[in-house]
Amino acid sequence: MNLEGGKMAAIAGNELLEAQAHIWNHLFNFINSMTLKCAIQLGIPDAIHRHEPHPMPLSRLVSALQLHPNKTQFIYRLMRLLTHSGFFVAQKVPKNSGKEEEEEEEGYVLTNSSRLLLKHNPCGATPFLLSMLQPALVEPWQLLSIWFQSEDRTPFHTAHGMPLWEFLGNKVKDGEGFNAGMASDARLVMSVLLDKHKGVFDGVASLVDVGGGTGTVAKAIAEAFPQIECTVLDLPQVVGELKGEGNLKYVEGDMFKAIPSADALLLKWILHDWSDPECVRILKNCKAAITSHGYKGKVMVIDMVVGYKGKESDSYETQLFYDMLMMILVGGKEREEKEWAKLIREAGFSGYNILPILGLRSLIEIYP
Ligand SMILES: C[S@@+](CC[C@H](N)C(=O)[O-])C[C@H]1O[C@@H](n2cnc3c(N)ncnc32)[C@H](O)[C@@H]1O
Repeated sequence: MNLEGGKMAAIAGNELLEAQAHIWNHLFNFINSMTLKCAIQLGIPDAIHRHEPHPMPLSRLVSALQLHPNKTQFIYRLMRLLTHSGFFVAQKVPKNSGKEEEEEEEGYVLTNSSRLLLKHNPCGATPFLLSMLQPALVEPWQLLSIWFQSEDRTPFHTAHGMPLWEFLGNKVKDGEGFNAGMASDARLVMSVLLDKHKGVFDGVASLVDVGGGTGTVAKAIAEAFPQIECTVLDLPQVVGELKGEGNLKYVEGDMFKAIPSADALLLKWILHDWSDPECVRILKNCKAAITSHGYKGKVMVIDMVVGYKGKESDSYETQLFYDMLMMILVGGKEREEKEWAKLIREAGFSGYNILPILGLRSLIEIYP
């Protein structure tokens, strides 16, 4: 082989190896979610938290967890990956070995992300993470290609023979985990909204949280604004046994049939669950509900606007993950601005305003 030919072969070889590495990285992406789930189930973030303000030495961490003695040696490897992915920071700490000479071992501190996974953090992401990674919600991913070749509405149908909402209603245990996951996200969103953007509720005297789950969002609004009459509308299986008090009440119902009238309607993480024609039906019911007394209220949608912050960032990839998740679980989608504009127009509204104030999600105000 001449020199030129050798160089070409070397480049081709490198590209081949890069392609292989790219595939391997994607192939094993699920290891990120599964190791994080395992760390939470073992109680690792909370164990490190209890050791604050000092970094928790590996040897102390291992003895704080309930492990089989044969497995203690493996914790270091779990921690090494989770440190690499930004959930912990590793620092050298003196080893408590009782020996004279100075020995060091690895110690761990929390990061903002693992702090958000602590059990008693009211805005914690653990209930959401555990509900999304429960086997019933992961199984449909194994059937994605079969779904593409079948008539089923969603891969969730392919796996379980019924829509997600029916499944959650039938299997009380699954429904509880799902609702707890939604409630934890609702606490986080409301803490930001009420702390930094209270003004979005100016002039609102009555509000319905459409598909408001167990009422976490509405409770926060009712407490922050005692003058606002708050109503949670959701399916009987979710709100049937819940009792409101003061300026908060629960109403069983179906947003496809009718929505109680109010100055403002909140739809947090609702429209991304549904197809375009279904969203237009929901939005038309919303329009009827905010204009029924001759008053012009507003609809407040909390959902993603895909690509709103550019397509280069990690946020864009996470938005695309969510879009796939909606397709797999419920037959919904995440939408770009032009798709939102089309829905809003088709439902008969005159305008909208996107407030990109909630991280990956935005508050979209829609006016009649
Ligand atoms: C993704 S969850 C969002 C819950 C809550 N808005 C939140 O963000 O925490 C969707 C909610 O819509 C409710 N839902 C589904 N179909 C509904 C319907 N036809 N009418 C009213 N609520 C419905 C579900 O029970 C569930 O509570």
